[in-house]
Amino acid sequence: MDLFEKLRTAKGALGQYSEEAHGYYTFPKLRGELSAHMEFNGKKVLTWSLNNYLGLGNHPEIRKVDAEAAAEWGLAYPMGSRMMSGNTDQHEQLEAELSAFVKKEDTVLLNFGYQGILSTVDSLLNRKDVVVYDEQAHACIIDGLRMHLGKRFVYKHNDIEDCEKQLVRAQKLAEKTGGGILVITEGVFGMSGTVGKLKEIVQLKEKYEFRLLVDDAHGFGTMGSTGAGTGEFLEIQDQIDVYFSTFAKSMASIGAFVSSTKEVCDFLRYNMRSQIYAKSLPMPIVIGALKRLELLREQPEHREKLWTIVKALQGGLKERGFNIGNTQSPVSPVFLSATIGETSQLVVDLRENLHIFCSVVIYPVVPKDVIMLRLIPTAMHSLEDVETTLKAFEQVAHKLKNKLYAQEIYDIHA
Ligand SMILES: Cc1ncc(COP(=O)(O)O)c(C=O)c1O
Repeated sequence: MDLFEKLRTAKGALGQYSEEAHGYYTFPKLRGELSAHMEFNGKKVLTWSLNNYLGLGNHPEIRKVDAEAAAEWGLAYPMGSRMMSGNTDQHEQLEAELSAFVKKEDTVLLNFGYQGILSTVDSLLNRKDVVVYDEQAHACIIDGLRMHLGKRFVYKHNDIEDCEKQLVRAQKLAEKTGGGILVITEGVFGMSGTVGKLKEIVQLKEKYEFRLLVDDAHGFGTMGSTGAGTGEFLEIQDQIDVYFSTFAKSMASIGAFVSSTKEVCDFLRYNMRSQIYAKSLPMPIVIGALKRLELLREQPEHREKLWTIVKALQGGLKERGFNIGNTQSPVSPVFLSATIGETSQLVVDLRENLHIFCSVVIYPVVPKDVIMLRLIPTAMHSLEDVETTLKAFEQVAHKLKNKLYAQEIYDIHA
């Protein structure tokens, strides 16, 4: 049989919609300057789908530093992996500044968050070790665990009783194998906005011996009194053994980092395969990240503005009876009950008639017959943007409730 035969018949959970969806629901093109108002499908839309939480992506000081660094260094330097020929003073300076900011002894830069955390997980574990992790952990954690040759136990999302149950099983097994235990959770869960129960997990350290790894992609820059993340927000940062975040959200760039003790970071430097066998971050990215970190630290007004928008948006949605789940972070989900057909009609209505662009999440990310519209407030939004959006949401919710949307998937190519 032709290897490719199955690509035609089993296209995957999302791939099955590719023909109808491509270019509109999936792979849409947002044009124009990064801002709350961009162009989509020839129309100006109010954009709620960019993780540019602090609005740094298009900040004039950052654009200037990015451009100057690109002019001075180009995108090639340094060549090679950090270990071979790709290390610089600036890479080390960024690591030192990140360590100081997240209050850890040491930091390792990662050329992409996804590969970086995957290799962090992979290199920290051997076949004797046991992992206990949240069922809603990001795909990069799951993929890191796919390489794990030992046992792993998953616990129900943010369910601390179940987490403890799995820890009991893990402890029994680890005693037999002679391995250790790693617990993995997100700081802020990127889909639902729920804050991980880090305080409760940390308390379990009194009863069980384990290390804690936190993926704080959505918490870094947004949570905590200085923006140092969910550990700072919950006042348990010192109990997080391995702290990870990406530059792809609040820092509005690319790349990532992992922070821990010097011992752990030195081990990771010499063992993370995705970093040892891949090119180091280009200089403009590193210099741009230094500038972003400076603004993140020294201009709290961006975080304050973000939270003004978050409170207005989430408060307004709740007042109007929308189900926004348990978010305690800027991530703002709106759960609605609808079929795939109705969802597509609603999204087209939002985008084409009401000029609101947000992401839509369907099964298998959320249960069947539930849809989630995911809004990401940022410091670039205004209170007027929030009002416009709340009115638009009232309209689409009314139509959905009164079955005014057709059941067929809206064919955007027709
Ligand atoms: C929770 C979480 N972890 C890790 C990543 C991966 O980071 P990166 O985009 O730097 O590969 C993402 C997405 O960006 C994420 O949302």
